[in-house]
Amino acid sequence: MARLVIVSNRVAVPEDGSKAVAAGGLAVAVKEAFTAYEGLWFGWSGNVVEDPSTEPTVIDRGRVQYAVVDLSPQDHREYYSGFANRALWPIMHYRLGLGAFSRSDYAGYQRVNRTFARTLARLIEPDDLIWVHDYHLLPLASELRGLGIANPIGYFHHIPWPAADVFNTLPASTDLLRAIADYDLIGLQTDPDVHNLSRNLIDELRAIPLGGGSLMVDGRRTRIRSFPIGIDVAGFKEAAENAGANKTVRETMAGLRTRKLLIGVDRLDYSKGVPERMEAVERFFASNPDQRGNVVYIQITPKSRTEVQEYEELSREVNETVGEINGSLGEPNWTPIQYVTKAYPRPVLAGLYRAARVGLVTPMRDGMNLVAKEYVVAQSDEDPGVLVLSKFAGAARQLPEALLVNPYDRFEVAEAIRTALYMPRSERLERWKPMVERMTREDVDWWARNFLSDLENFRTIEREPPRT
Ligand code: F6P
Repeated sequence: MARLVIVSNRVAVPEDGSKAVAAGGLAVAVKEAFTAYEGLWFGWSGNVVEDPSTEPTVIDRGRVQYAVVDLSPQDHREYYSGFANRALWPIMHYRLGLGAFSRSDYAGYQRVNRTFARTLARLIEPDDLIWVHDYHLLPLASELRGLGIANPIGYFHHIPWPAADVFNTLPASTDLLRAIADYDLIGLQTDPDVHNLSRNLIDELRAIPLGGGSLMVDGRRTRIRSFPIGIDVAGFKEAAENAGANKTVRETMAGLRTRKLLIGVDRLDYSKGVPERMEAVERFFASNPDQRGNVVYIQITPKSRTEVQEYEELSREVNETVGEINGSLGEPNWTPIQYVTKAYPRPVLAGLYRAARVGLVTPMRDGMNLVAKEYVVAQSDEDPGVLVLSKFAGAARQLPEALLVNPYDRFEVAEAIRTALYMPRSERLERWKPMVERMTREDVDWWARNFLSDLENFRTIEREPPRT
């Protein structure tokens, strides 16, 4: 059987003897891809060390081998924190004002992609299918092609692909467009993302559309399609149904007494719109004073990328916002916002989603947003809650029955919270049913199968000789 080689910045190596993988969309998705293939998962170990070895550490776990490399402090600073997370991330999320481009960071990004390619090329076998994930590794196929690797190489972009006028503000944009065209198949989350990247390739690189999403770029054929990522519906549903047994869930529910719960769960990231959401909740209490004391908002926000300045500033901003709102609205027997920065495992999250009357998922921009999907799947068919969802999350395209909102408009979000809290059960059921059915059909397995069967087709296409 052909092997699948997955490459991603982070690799979630399971504990020996355990079937569990780390939580998080990418880890769950990659695990799903390996159910149909044997293979190798390659990437960064998560460790930063002086003088890292160029030999990967290889760990065998049955059908899947893990090969991981360490990063030096300079690589970590320039490739990961610098170019990937201070230049690409904000620009991909339409936050031009937050983008910080530096030539040395870009050189570090290219250097790490080159080193990854050299190490990985030694592990590749002729029949392997190679599937690269996310914006840390845009130039990887180009580097692999330069080393003579002619296998089918696919790329999936987990975050948004912005309009050309936004992407092209990045000083390295043309380089990156050329590099991405070395993938055989490029998967994006939504059709607008596909449109943005395709138009950019056509306008900037004079790519020629060949129909069916294929483009000829500099004499090479590539295909761009949307593959909206799904979740492990069966696993999530089971976790939600059994969550009553979980101590944290039980105690949280007991603490609520008759109060209704609003829930938000996000990595601490400015793309998620956490302070803006808190202000919308404050607005809701300002215009619905009768609801003070009757509603509690729990926001679970594990810290992320703390070494990046903008994330540190956001952390301070959220702390201040929570303090101000709780200070001005709270009572000795009621705290409107319960803000937690701990990361909780799936059974706890699933139980809290199920207990929450309203799921607040209001990113300013998001590639997909799997919390929105998890919230829907965790609901009971007896008494489902209501999803309030940003129209700028990729998930909004598959969840149009949610209450779709503009996260920049806190009055609109506050109004949606009120609508959700007062929505009769019949309407909640009517909205929820088509969403949960769609999530069940379009789950993570559907996503991985679609992408990989498309990538398999590239085996039959005659390959160009590698560029020198
Ligand atoms: O979804 C985008 C993404 O960068 C994933 O690749 C990653 O798993 C997640 O966000 C968390 O980010 P980080 O690896 O920087 O902590």
